[in-house]
Amino acid sequence: PVTAVIVVAAGSGQRLGYGMPKAKVPLGGDSILTHALRGVAAAGLAQQICVAIPPGDADLRALCQAFEQELTAGHGRLPAPADGVQPPVVTIVDGGASRAASVRAALAALLPATEAVLVHDAARALTPEAVFHRVSHALAAGALAVIPVIPVVDTVKTVEPTTGDGAAIAPELVTGTAARETLRAVQTPQGFELATLLRAHEAAEGLDAGQAAGVTDDAMLVELLGVPVHAVRGASQSLKITTPLDLIIAEGLLEGPLG
Ligand code: CTP
Ligand code: MG
Repeated sequence: PVTAVIVVAAGSGQRLGYGMPKAKVPLGGDSILTHALRGVAAAGLAQQICVAIPPGDADLRALCQAFEQELTAGHGRLPAPADGVQPPVVTIVDGGASRAASVRAALAALLPATEAVLVHDAARALTPEAVFHRVSHALAAGALAVIPVIPVVDTVKTVEPTTGDGAAIAPELVTGTAARETLRAVQTPQGFELATLLRAHEAAEGLDAGQAAGVTDDAMLVELLGVPVHAVRGASQSLKITTPLDLIIAEGLLEGPLG
């Protein structure tokens, strides 16, 4: 299928705490966004790469344009395109106030022939090519929605705020324990048949502000439509660089087995 990869990079990176959009933060001599874009290109399955950046961010726009040059010229792990093979089109859009709004801005800029779309977090900058391929193969096999997942290592409990006398003891009270073998931690790229994802995002525009704030990935919007979401194996290297500890881990991965 004609495939676009959306890379959402319009977040502000509050939890990383660099005082700049996370996409710009250095990782192994390049930026987080450059690593993410090279990973998408190396997977080699997109006709278009559509990047959502913070509105008006000239640095990130220039970075995307430099990446587009790399695609034509060949660079490092990226071979120059073979004769007659077109490198993917790079499209830059202004992101929105939420991740979902950034995805919607990118969806509005996809080429008309697009049939399948992968939505990827720039923050998952070290996602292996194999994960892109597993998602894409499931789409080619007929899935309308596919997500990469990994097993959960921690025991996960639900809690509620403690009320009454208990509040003097501890702030929260446990309400239950989830069955760990049925839990999965969810990553990106998440793959969709385009019409399905468009329908899911249209439906999401009807959510109230509270519900919208709870939308943390695209697959949950598709689940709300009642469409089956398939899960393939993700990778621990696909960690979302969220906190300073995650950045240390990512630097370590680059120096070690991935470097
Ligand atoms: N994202 C986006 N537009 C937003 C918010 C987030 O494109 N309005 C993107 C981020 O750039 C990131 C991905 O969604 O690649 C996952 O979001 P997250 O890890 O939360 O990144 P930030 O929102 O930048 O970080 P924080 O929540 O700590 O501010
Ligand atoms: Mg965020």
